[in-house]
Amino acid sequence: MADPGEDPFSRLLDDHKDFLEKLAELEATLDEMVRTRKATEANRAVLDEALRFLEEELLPHFRLEDEVVLPALESRVGRFGSLVNVVAYEHEEIRREVGKFREARADLTVARDPGPAIEELNRHGIFTIQFLWDHFRKERTSLFPTAREQLPPEDLSAIRRKLSR
Ligand SMILES: [Fe+2]
Ligand SMILES: [Fe+2]
Repeated sequence: MADPGEDPFSRLLDDHKDFLEKLAELEATLDEMVRTRKATEANRAVLDEALRFLEEELLPHFRLEDEVVLPALESRVGRFGSLVNVVAYEHEEIRREVGKFREARADLTVARDPGPAIEELNRHGIFTIQFLWDHFRKERTSLFPTAREQLPPEDLSAIRRKLSR
């Protein structure tokens, strides 16, 4: 049950913290693979876990924002030239990158020489990590504060309710 005094966005902010920890582990693994030009069983397990979390946790998180937060805000501040547009666009960008990361992971499985697949994984992985870092910061410092400020209490209550686990 959602506590009525709780920040409506606390669940999304908690997710961000959790995601950043997981991304740090992925980054360390990508660094190691690039350095050694090898993908050990342990490295591959981290890649698979990263892909799982991106698809099963990050993408549903985007969906929640797209369906619960952005429409409420759009109806108050509009879409064009607004943060709503930027955030929606960035979700699309990351969805594409997750698809490319998935392809590169599949290439690694079949490649005789892991080098090119490691380069691709690193490229899309690092892009995703840096992009998300900035995306979460934008939501924390701009999107959520704007929503807290602009939305009427009944909208914020509805968001809090829909986001409660
Ligand atoms: Fe987002
Ligand atoms: Fe988010």
